[in-house]
Amino acid sequence: RRPSRVTVVEVGPRDGLQNESDEIPVASKVRLITALADAGLPVVEAGAFVSPKWVPQMAGSADVLAQLPLDGPTRFPVLVPNDKGYDRAKAAGAREIAVFGAASETFSQRNINCSIQESLGRFAPVIAQAKRDGLRVRGYVSCVLGCPYEGAVSPHRVAEIAKDLVALGCDEISLGDTIGVGTPDAAVRMLDTVAARVPLERLAVHFHDTYGQALANVLACLERGVGIVDSAVAGLGGCPYAQGASGNLATEDLLYLLHGLGIETGVDLAAVAAAGRVISDELGRPPASKVARALAAG
Ligand code: HMG
Ligand code: MG
Repeated sequence: RRPSRVTVVEVGPRDGLQNESDEIPVASKVRLITALADAGLPVVEAGAFVSPKWVPQMAGSADVLAQLPLDGPTRFPVLVPNDKGYDRAKAAGAREIAVFGAASETFSQRNINCSIQESLGRFAPVIAQAKRDGLRVRGYVSCVLGCPYEGAVSPHRVAEIAKDLVALGCDEISLGDTIGVGTPDAAVRMLDTVAARVPLERLAVHFHDTYGQALANVLACLERGVGIVDSAVAGLGGCPYAQGASGNLATEDLLYLLHGLGIETGVDLAAVAAAGRVISDELGRPPASKVARALAAG
């Protein structure tokens, strides 16, 4: 069931950079996003229209979108938590949005200041309007394999929320192991439970590498037929509302695995690694990707 082609969704410029405390100039973000698109990544998450009080780093997302080729072949989705965010994203020219819910009540409160049920109520009109406007909509479910506040999370809870998001109109659901605690058997159990309610073609997996399990989890999910995988260049990231969560699975590491398995991505690994080195230099630390370090040494 392993797919012959995988869509890699690059989330570094959003999921990664949102955690940086020093302000990153719009020009640096645009340079990074453009380099990632030029490397062949089909989807590059470009920003978030969230409250700037909650996530200051994403405040300039409209300025970023203004400098991207939004009519070109690359998709540049942006996060939207509510009507206000949708209006801002639409005005900035976004063609694709992502709403983001959670499988844990406490995480939902800490991240978007409302309960899971309230969040679905907020997303409903946003998704409906986006569909009327012809935009594509991704729905995230966070904490699918564990919550920093509540611990274990039931796969049935994840499946329920994923199904609700699809019923509201989401085209795709990204299953996020936000704190990176999952291991392959748990990941597959969760995936199978969700896939019983939502078509597998609509499911993406999103692993963080906190415990070094992200690639193992991806491989296990590939064997179940998943064809969309999220990752972040240079392993950027963490989560502002998930203490101790280290970065996303690094795009370089993911590409090395996929290409090694003979799975097509259409992405140039060396070009992604080069983009990762530039942003890592700007952030003043080496890329958190073994493949990036090996390529630099070679
Ligand atoms: P709230 O404080 O309850 O919102 O926050 P509010 O409606 O009461 O508004 C408070 C203020 O924010 C008002 O301004 C609003 O106008 C403003 P004031 O009157 O005080 O000057 N406001 C906005 N401004 C700009 N854009 C908006 C917006 N909405 C309200 N969209 C809210 C609720 C949802 C807004 C807030 O909690 C928030 O922005 N949260 C975002 C948190 C976030 O971005 N987290 C990171 C992304 S999730 C993630 O990383 C996980 C993921 O990667 C998956 C994984 O890793 O597993 C997706
Ligand atoms: Mg994430």
